[in-house]
Order: sequence, then structure tokens, then C-alpha cells
Amino acid sequence: MGAGGEVRYSCRRSAVCGVASCVVAGMGCVLVVAMVVYLMFRPNLLHATAAGAELSTFSLALKEWTLSYNLSVGVDLTRHNARLALRYHSIAADAYYHDQRFAHALLPDFSQPASTNTTRITPSFQGRHQLLGGLAAAAFRREDTEGIYSIHVTMAAKTEIKLTPSAIIRLPGPNIKLDCPLRLRLHPSPSNATTTTNNHNPHHFHPTACHISY
Ligand SMILES: *[C@@H]1O[C@H](CO)[C@@H](O)[C@H](O)[C@H]1NC(C)=O
Ligand SMILES: *[C@@H]1O[C@H](CO)[C@@H](O)[C@H](O)[C@H]1NC(C)=O
Ligand SMILES: *[C@@H]1O[C@H](CO)[C@@H](O)[C@H](O)[C@H]1NC(C)=O
Repeated sequence: MGAGGEVRYSCRRSAVCGVASCVVAGMGCVLVVAMVVYLMFRPNLLHATAAGAELSTFSLALKEWTLSYNLSVGVDLTRHNARLALRYHSIAADAYYHDQRFAHALLPDFSQPASTNTTRITPSFQGRHQLLGGLAAAAFRREDTEGIYSIHVTMAAKTEIKLTPSAIIRLPGPNIKLDCPLRLRLHPSPSNATTTTNNHNPHHFHPTACHISY
């Protein structure tokens, strides 16, 4: 008893001891966070699926190789074991055509409460972008005759794990990256500005699994 008091007393005065206990406590904390993160993000716990997409403009001005686009994608983010609430923030989406990024969009933060399985994120991209080099333009000419375009949509998000329903305690979660390889047909917009050769079934879209990495 006396010895314990002695040790505690000397410990309180010793900076080395203070740093050591701080390090031990910090390591314990890191271990707990690592466990929580592992339990939440084990493979198969998080799935992303491109459930819908609408490509209402996708055309190339051949002289300048300027791509005009209007694309929106609905990505379902599903957690199969949603025991903890998760907040996604700093969410950015990019669209690529044959390895060239042609569009960038920022998305609002959102939370997935503990009981929610699936949340849909809907990035949309509109504008023009000049393609560089001839490869993407050549690919466009080829795909334009088929009427199906290969577009990748990627997303990156940071996460926060909410340990309590009232969200007083938050832990930083892993950064999540999604890559959705899409094969899209042009969907004529309501203002029948363009007609395509392959529009017999414009609404048809196969849900596509997205690849997730951390
Ligand atoms: C893009 O397409 C959507 C429908 O998919 C339409 O509502 C919107 O007005 C279009 N935007 C532009 C700038 O054409
Ligand atoms: C979540 O998914 C499971 C099956 O994967 C289902 O049994 C459960 O009802 C779902 N919960 C909600 C809130 O949708
Ligand atoms: C679509 O085309 C039809 C004729 O085919 C025309 O009557 C209608 O006004 C067009 N709609 C729009 C929004 O331009």
C-alpha cells in the first residue's frame, strides 16, 4: 500500500513516467480504434453498386475534341452489418473517359445511422472538357457507332465513426475509395434535342458493382 503510494507519488513527479503512461494509453486507444475499424470494414461489410445512371448528353466536337456531357449516377452504399453510425464527409466524385478525367464534383456530407443498410449517393456531372491526345477521341468514335460508352466514375470519402447515438464520441474512420466501371447508353433528354441510333431501350441499365478500396 505504502509502496504503491510511493510509486504513484514518484510517478506523478516524473516526466518520463508521465510520457510512458501517456504512450501506453495512446497505444491502447489506437488498438481499440483499429479493432472497431476492422470489425466495421472487414471485407464484405461494405458494398457499393451503381444502381442507376442517366447519360443525357455525351458528344464530341470533332474539331476541338471537346466532350460535352451530362451524366448522373446513383450509387448505393450498403453496409451489411450496420451496428455503428457512420458519417461520410469530404466526398468527391470524378468521371473518366478512357483514363482521362473529364469531370469533377463535390458532394454533400451525409450520415448512415446505425440501423440504415443502404444510402444512395447521386453524383452528377455537366459541362465540357477538352480531351487530350487522339486515343480517347478514337475510342469515342468507335463507341459512338456502338452507342455504348465506357465511363468510370470514382468517388473518395473520409469517414467518421459515431460511437454513441448522440454522436458525442467520434472516431476517424478509414478513407473510402470507389471505382464504378460503367457501360452507358445515351438517354435522350425530354427536350428531344438529339436522337440516337440505338435508343430502342434507353432506360436499360445493368446495376454494376463498384470496387471499394481503403
Ligand atoms: C442534364 O440532364 C438532366 C436530366 O438527366 C436535366 O434535368 C438537366 O437539365 C440537364 N442539364 C443540362 C445542363 O443540360
Ligand atoms: C438490413 O439488411 C438485412 C439483410 O441484409 C435486413 O434483414 C434488415 O431488415 C435490413 N435493415 C434495414 C433497416 O433495412
Ligand atoms: C419533341 O418532338 C415533337 C415532334 O416530334 C415536338 O412536337 C415536341 O415539341 C418536341 N418537344 C420538345 C420539348 O422540344
